[in-house]
This record gives sequence, structure tokens and C-alpha cells, in this order.
Amino acid sequence: MRVLVTGGAGFIGSHLVEKLSKKHEVIVYDNFSSGKKEFLKGIKCEVIKGDILNLNKIVKVSKNVDIIYHLAADPDVRKSYFKPVENFEIDAKGTLNVLEAARRNDVKKFVFSSSSVVYGIAKMPTPEDAPIKPISNYGAAKASSENYMMSYSNLYGIKCLALRYANIIGPRLTHGIIYDFYNKLKKNPKKLEILGDGTQKKSYLHVKDCVDASVLAAGYLKKSFDVYNIGSEEQITVKEIAKIVSKELGLNPKFIYKGGKIGWPGDVPKMLLSTKKIKKIGWKPKYSIRDAIVDTLNYLRGRK
Ligand SMILES: NC(=O)c1ccc[n+]([C@@H]2O[C@H](COP(=O)([O-])OP(=O)(O)OC[C@H]3O[C@@H](n4cnc5c(N)ncnc54)[C@H](O)[C@@H]3O)[C@@H](O)[C@H]2O)c1
Repeated sequence: MRVLVTGGAGFIGSHLVEKLSKKHEVIVYDNFSSGKKEFLKGIKCEVIKGDILNLNKIVKVSKNVDIIYHLAADPDVRKSYFKPVENFEIDAKGTLNVLEAARRNDVKKFVFSSSSVVYGIAKMPTPEDAPIKPISNYGAAKASSENYMMSYSNLYGIKCLALRYANIIGPRLTHGIIYDFYNKLKKNPKKLEILGDGTQKKSYLHVKDCVDASVLAAGYLKKSFDVYNIGSEEQITVKEIAKIVSKELGLNPKFIYKGGKIGWPGDVPKMLLSTKKIKKIGWKPKYSIRDAIVDTLNYLRGRK
């Protein structure tokens, strides 16, 4: 199969490309805004530098492709508060462009990296049929992308799959809480500024488990439009993460809480996805949250 991965040079994308390249011909399309060439070192794939906002180029690159995994996005919820229009351009219009490229080239399958944030504040564990009620602009753009996938699958017969990821961590991480804590402690080992009151409680999943689940679900896609939650069954508080990170680094910093109850506008303070559906088709995570945190830290410390 010929597979196109947008955002394939990024954190999750590069792990996905690594897995897919063992069985398929893979093309990476990335503008390298946060992705890195070195993440693809030693991985067999064709790399094309380009932007998903360049419709003509993405249409050209999607020729003779069997399946598109669309990951290119700006995943920063905080930034989407300050720059909603820019976020919409990349995370919603960008998805529409890639869908349009799929339509014009008769690509049969479209797999999208959506997010748990589309649910907003929801009952937990949140099943796939829970109401879509985003509370951030990033979440609204992901939800809007899913809506276009629904219309494109209905109108043009492209099989579309939305994968709603929990927080993903692991080697090559370039953003998020563990990355932030590690870098703050590297700068000042005596204190750690924590956004929110530390009681925010969420689910985290190792990137290897995330790509295994994504590829498995893509292989199962039979309906015109389908959705899977991809996360772990465990939850951990921000304070517990701070403690694990500090202990692993051999530090005992003073925790300083900042910004009130939640970390930032649009932050969903509690999140746990129901993973019954993905488990039913044979997926099981290999890493606990703790192991995933330690593995991420080992990478950040240059130990792997
Ligand atoms: N990391 C998580 O916890 C998480 C959780 C839920 C959903 N997601 C989604 O998974 C996908 C991958 O996230 P990630 O964590 O690997 O982030 P990332 O920033 O590492 O990857 C995004 C990639 O897209 C590329 N990109 C950004 N804008 C682009 C554009 N306009 N044109 C072409 N390429 C562009 C970047 O260079 C990067 O390689 C994103 O869609 C994100 O929203 C991530």
C-alpha cells in the first residue's frame, strides 16, 4: 500500500511512520514547523516538505495513495485561545484541504488524529457516543474536522476514521506537561511552577501504544465513518506527575501552583476515555502511565 502521513515528522507521526514503513511505501508531508528531520533518521520513507494549507501541493502529493493518515496540526490548546483564527486555519481548514486532496485523487481511506478534547467536560469514562461539546478553540477545530469527515464520507464515499487520543507521551515528545516540567527543572532544580492547582486528573498513553491502536483501528475500518477513543484506563493527577518527574531526576523542588483551578483557558481538568471499543478489536496497552512517564524522561535526558 502507498500511505501518506501528514505531520509525519512530528512526535506521534514519526512513530507512526516508523511502524507503517515496515510494511508499506510511506510518504511524509510536513512543513517542519515542529517536526524534525532527525525523528525520521533511519526510517524508510519519502519526505516532502510542504504545508497542508497549500491545496495544490497536497493534491499533487496524494496521487496514487491508498490511505491518508492526517496528523499535521498545531496541537497547542493554550495557543488556540490567543490565536483562534490561526488555529482554525491549520487545524480545521487544513483538514478540509487534506480531505479535498483525498476526494480529488479517489483515496479510499482517511484516518484523522482527533482528540479527547472534543468531549469537553464529560462523564467518565467517556464513551465514543458521548456528546461533542468542546470548551477550547483547538477542540472546536478538531470537532469541525470530524464533521467534514462525516460529510465527505457520506458525499464522496471516502471511508473516514476519527481517532480521539488521550494525552500521548514518550520518546520524541516536544510539548506537553512532562516536557514542560523537565525543562523547567533543568533551568531551576529548586522550584517547579505548576499550572493549575495540581488536582487536574487525566489519562496518558505511551506513543507506541497509541500508534499500535491507530494502525489496528485503521485496518478494521469498514463503515463509511467511525470513531475510536485511544487512551489508557488509568488517570493521574498533575501533582503526582510532578512528584514522579522530580523523584526520577533526583530532585526535591518546591511546587508553586499558578493560575487557579485549571491550567489555562480551555483546559479540560478531568479526562478518562472509555477504551472498550478499541479493546474489543484486540488492542491492549503495553505501558502503564508510570512506565510511559519514565520512558519519556529517559528520552529527554538523552538516555535513549
Ligand atoms: N500529543 C498528544 O497528546 C495529542 C493528543 C490528541 C491529539 N493529538 C493530535 O495528534 C497529531 C500529532 O500531534 P503531535 O503531538 O505529534 O504534535 P507535533 O507538533 O509533534 O506534530 C505535528 C506535525 O505537523 C506538522 N505541521 C504542523 N502544521 C503543519 C502544516 N500547516 N502543514 C504541514 N505540516 C504541519 C509539524 O511540523 C509536526 O511535524 C495532531 O493532529 C494533534 O492534534 C495529539
